[in-house]
Amino acid sequence: MPQPCTVIIFGASGDLTFRKLIPALYNLAADGDLPAATNIVGFARRPKTDDSWRGELKETTTKSSRSGLNEEIWGSFAPRIFYHQSEFGNAAGYQSLAKRLDELDAQSGTRGNRLFYLSVSPTDYEGILTQLAAAGLSGTKGGAWTRVIVEKPFGTDLSTAHALNEVVARVFREKDTFRIDHYLGKETAQNIMVLRFGNGIFEPLWNSHYIDHVQITAAEPLGVEQRGPYYESSGALRDMVQNHLLQLLCLTAMEPPTDLRADSVRDEKVKVIRSLRQMTIEEVGTHVVRGQYAAGAIAGKEVKAYREEDRVSPTSMTETYVAVKVNVDNWRWANVPFYIRVGKRLAKGGTEIAIQFKNAPNVLFNKAAEPLGPNVLVIRIQPDEGISLRMQCKMPGNAIRIEPVKMDFHYGTSFGKASPEAYERLLLDAMSGDATLFARRDEVEGAWKFVDVIEEAWHQSENPPPLCTYPSGSWGPKESDDLLERDGRTWRRM
Ligand code: BG6
Repeated sequence: MPQPCTVIIFGASGDLTFRKLIPALYNLAADGDLPAATNIVGFARRPKTDDSWRGELKETTTKSSRSGLNEEIWGSFAPRIFYHQSEFGNAAGYQSLAKRLDELDAQSGTRGNRLFYLSVSPTDYEGILTQLAAAGLSGTKGGAWTRVIVEKPFGTDLSTAHALNEVVARVFREKDTFRIDHYLGKETAQNIMVLRFGNGIFEPLWNSHYIDHVQITAAEPLGVEQRGPYYESSGALRDMVQNHLLQLLCLTAMEPPTDLRADSVRDEKVKVIRSLRQMTIEEVGTHVVRGQYAAGAIAGKEVKAYREEDRVSPTSMTETYVAVKVNVDNWRWANVPFYIRVGKRLAKGGTEIAIQFKNAPNVLFNKAAEPLGPNVLVIRIQPDEGISLRMQCKMPGNAIRIEPVKMDFHYGTSFGKASPEAYERLLLDAMSGDATLFARRDEVEGAWKFVDVIEEAWHQSENPPPLCTYPSGSWGPKESDDLLERDGRTWRRM
C-alpha cells in the first residue's frame, strides 16, 4: 500500500481523465488498494465546482469503470475529489492551489505527498512545470515526496523529446519523473518478464539458435475517431511504434536484469534500444511499409476513408499503418528479424507477440513435400489475454496424420478474475515510487532516434517511399505482405 497522497490532474476536463484516470482510481479504491486518505484535485480552465465535477465523473465512471459503479464505494470515494479552476499560465492559480493542497494535507493526513499528472497538450507542459516550480510546488518538505507523471506523446522527434526532458529535469529529478506508456501497465506485458525469467524452459531457447523471427502486431478496427488533428500531426509511427511497440520489443528481446529494481530493468531495455540497427534513408524504402486506410467495411458496416474523416486533410499523407523489419544487432538476436506492424481500421483488433521457432529438421515426420509448420509461442496482450504454444501432434487413428494443435492459457479462465486496467497499476506504482513500468529518459530518446530516420525518409527525402492504401477491414497494404515474403515468411493471421 503506498503512502497517502494528493493526485493533482492537469487536464481535468480531458477525455483521459474521464475514461481512464478517475475510473482507475475508483477501481483501486473499490479493490481496497488506494489509501483511504488519498485526495484527487482536478486542475483545468473551465469553470466548475467540486460538486458539478463529481457529478460528471460519476456518470463517466459508471460507463468506463471495468467493475461498474457501486453507490456505497462511490459515496466514500467522491468526497475526496476536488476541482481547482485556473488557466495553466496564471501564477495566482498555482498559489491558490498550493494553499488548497496544504489545507487538504492538514484535513486528511496526506502528509504533503503529491503526485502531479500532466494529461494536457505537450505544448502546455513547460508552462505548467515552470508555474509549479515558481509556486514552490515541485520541491519536497519534511520527508514528503513530489512526483510527476507525464503523458505521451513525449515529444515529436529526438530534438523535441530532448528539449522536453530538459524542461522536466529543471523541475523534477529523474527518479521523481514517470513517463507513462500504458502498454507497460497491461497485465500480459508485465507477464513477459515472468514468462521468460520465472520459467526454466524458455530462456535456453530464447535466442538466434532456436528462434527464426518475432512478429509484434497491434491491430485496431477503430479509425481515428475524434482525434483527427492530433493524428494528422502524429501518424501511426509516432503514435504507436516509437512507444508501445518498441517497449514490447524491448521486453521480448532484453537480457535478464541483475535484479528487479527499476533501473536494472530499464538498463537492459536501453541496451536493446541501442542495439537496434539504425536504418539509412535509402533502407527505409525496403525495411518499412506505410499505409493509409481507404473506405471499406468493418464488421459488415461501411466506413469512410481516412482522408474523409473529421478534421483530416483530403490530401493527407499521414500513415495509419506501419510495418517495419527491425534488426537487433546483438549477440542473442543476430539474424533474427523482429517484424512489427500496427494499423487502424484493420480486420480485427488485437495485440500480440509471436515468437516463431525454427522448423524441426527435415527428417522423420518433417520429410514430406509440405513441411510441418513451426512451433509458435504467442503472447496475447489483448483481448483474451493469455499465452499459447502451437505444436505438431498425431491425430488419433491408425494412420500417421499430423496436425498443429495449441496449448492455450487464458487469464480469464485460469485466474477467474478480470485483470486490472493498465492505468490502475501505473498510478499505484507512481504513488509507491516504483518506476519500473515507466520509460526512462534515455529509452525515450533512443526510441526517437530510431524512428526519426523513417520520418525523415518519408517527409524530407527527395525520393520518398510510397504511401500505400488499404481497404478498411483488411489486414493492411499488400506491400506489407511483400516485406515478409521477400524473406520467405508470412504474417500470422490473427
Ligand atoms: C494510444 C494511441 O496510445 O494507444 C491510440 O494514441 C491507440 O491511437 C491506443 O488507439 C491503443 O491503446 P489500447 O490500450 O486500446 O490498445
